Amino acid sequence: MNPQKALLSLLAVCLLSITVTLLTQAYWQEQSYRLQSKGNSSKCSEHLVEKEVESTQRKCKSPAVQTQSITLFVRMAATVPELRRQFYCVFLRLSVLFWPASLDKTVAVLDQENEEDHEFASTVLTHMKQHFPDRTFEVLYEPLPKDPTVLDFAKSPKSPGYNRQLYSSFFIDLYTNDDIIAWMDADSAFVSPVTNESIFNGTKVRVLGYDCTLTTKAWVQVWARTTEKALGLPFLADFMTYFPAYIYRDTFTHCREHILRRFNTSNFEEAFKKFYRQEYISPVSVVLSYAWYFERERYDWNLKLCTDLTEYNKRFPSEHIISAEHVVETLLIPQTAFHAKHAQGVREIVFSSYCLSQEAAGNDAEKCSNRTASLITNFVLFTQDVDHDVERLGPPAPPCPKNREETCLQLLERNYNQIGLEIKQKTRKLDWKNVKIVENLAKELKLQCDVLK
Ligand SMILES: *[C@@H]1O[C@H](CO)[C@@H](O)[C@H](O)[C@H]1NC(C)=O
Ligand SMILES: *[C@@H]1O[C@H](CO)[C@@H](O)[C@H](O)[C@H]1NC(C)=O
Ligand SMILES: *[C@@H]1O[C@H](CO)[C@@H](O)[C@H](O)[C@H]1NC(C)=O
Ligand SMILES: *[C@@H]1O[C@H](CO)[C@@H](O)[C@H](O)[C@H]1NC(C)=O
Ligand SMILES: *[C@@H]1O[C@H](CO)[C@@H](O)[C@H](O)[C@H]1NC(C)=O
Repeated sequence: MNPQKALLSLLAVCLLSITVTLLTQAYWQEQSYRLQSKGNSSKCSEHLVEKEVESTQRKCKSPAVQTQSITLFVRMAATVPELRRQFYCVFLRLSVLFWPASLDKTVAVLDQENEEDHEFASTVLTHMKQHFPDRTFEVLYEPLPKDPTVLDFAKSPKSPGYNRQLYSSFFIDLYTNDDIIAWMDADSAFVSPVTNESIFNGTKVRVLGYDCTLTTKAWVQVWARTTEKALGLPFLADFMTYFPAYIYRDTFTHCREHILRRFNTSNFEEAFKKFYRQEYISPVSVVLSYAWYFERERYDWNLKLCTDLTEYNKRFPSEHIISAEHVVETLLIPQTAFHAKHAQGVREIVFSSYCLSQEAAGNDAEKCSNRTASLITNFVLFTQDVDHDVERLGPPAPPCPKNREETCLQLLERNYNQIGLEIKQKTRKLDWKNVKIVENLAKELKLQCDVLK
């Protein structure tokens, strides 16, 4: 093809993708209108997001875009200094390294009523526009619930601010039109490159769950109780075991509708008060347990069970029992994020993944000249329970069992070969410079990032 023709066809593809985007947008606007008019009196509609979306520029996406669009989602509150630090020094700093720009947009939701949140958002947007023009970044604001006792009540297990984050987890679908939400906790860190395979198995969205914490962690037993209270159906498993959690946007919508029906109300605040009061809750476990009962075929279930399957299945209605195909012995795809309040806590994992990727791409990265990254040091990515406190407790028990080491090696090798290929083909950038940029931006904001070297 001559260059002019190539340019023309690229232009045509861009125009086509813009048209498709506009049509999709129109479709979702209509959908969201329908949601509003159907739920006329419901709090869901009143909960709607402040209309003007503040955003960095949206670019014409590359033609090869997957048909399923994804939003990387994080809930923030800038009034909490520690969260501002974590946002820059942990979340942003490592997402510009490991979350591929090709997967596009990031959405941060902040508190509507706080001036500080608006100021912080405007700084973040300016930073992103200036330094990461290839990434779309949006900020949206969430109003407080109308009824203050939704968040602030006697004997609450958590602070009102924390309760707000729990409450707002049930409304994540209102902040994007993308098909899939990649849900990150504000205190999570990317530790290895996110690949398409880590999100999808074929056309299904990958879900990882774990029952082993159910016997070892008292609070997981409490989550099981509150989930059952919310859904009227048993808790499937602990889904706080991996981040980001990938969930179809409309699964949130459907889950909320289910809960409203169950509590015979159109007011989610009222329903929430009936299932979350004095005991902990894990919203991600509620939403994914919902998906198991009502949308099982849309997801690729990877459940790691410590309990015997027959025994475990006794808790479920017969049409909802877990079968062998939903159970895995170890993860089939390496983890890409861990809970971490400081990047330092996951430093070794970050460098090992980064250097293995660069090596697979045939690059001599400066940061790696002094390191010997080996696939074995990377076994930690098979850890199921990312809630395990790496900072306090050190690396968890051997994540790849002795008898499966060969398989783990093969899985890692395949993973890094794919990443290396994408780097070589320039469909993925893995640039430490991005980490440095965020460190400098954090400095401008007087946020103290720990040293990552
Ligand atoms: C929606 O709200 C309007 C005004 O409050 C009311 O007249 C109408 O009956 C409501 N419709 C439904 C379907 O609840
Ligand atoms: C992965 O998905 C992205 C966007 O969704 C797409 O552009 C890319 O071609 C996919 N990569 C591979 C190797 O399939
Ligand atoms: C994808 O799903 C198929 C069918 O359930 C399963 O056999 C396979 O192991 C899965 N692959 C990965 C990498 O998860
Ligand atoms: C739900 O609310 C309606 C109207 O208020 C009432 O008639 C009905 O009995 C309620 N159902 C349940 C299960 O509480
Ligand atoms: C490599 O190690 C040497 C000695 O341990 C040290 O002086 C040097 O700064 C290191 N280089 C990098 C890039 O970390």
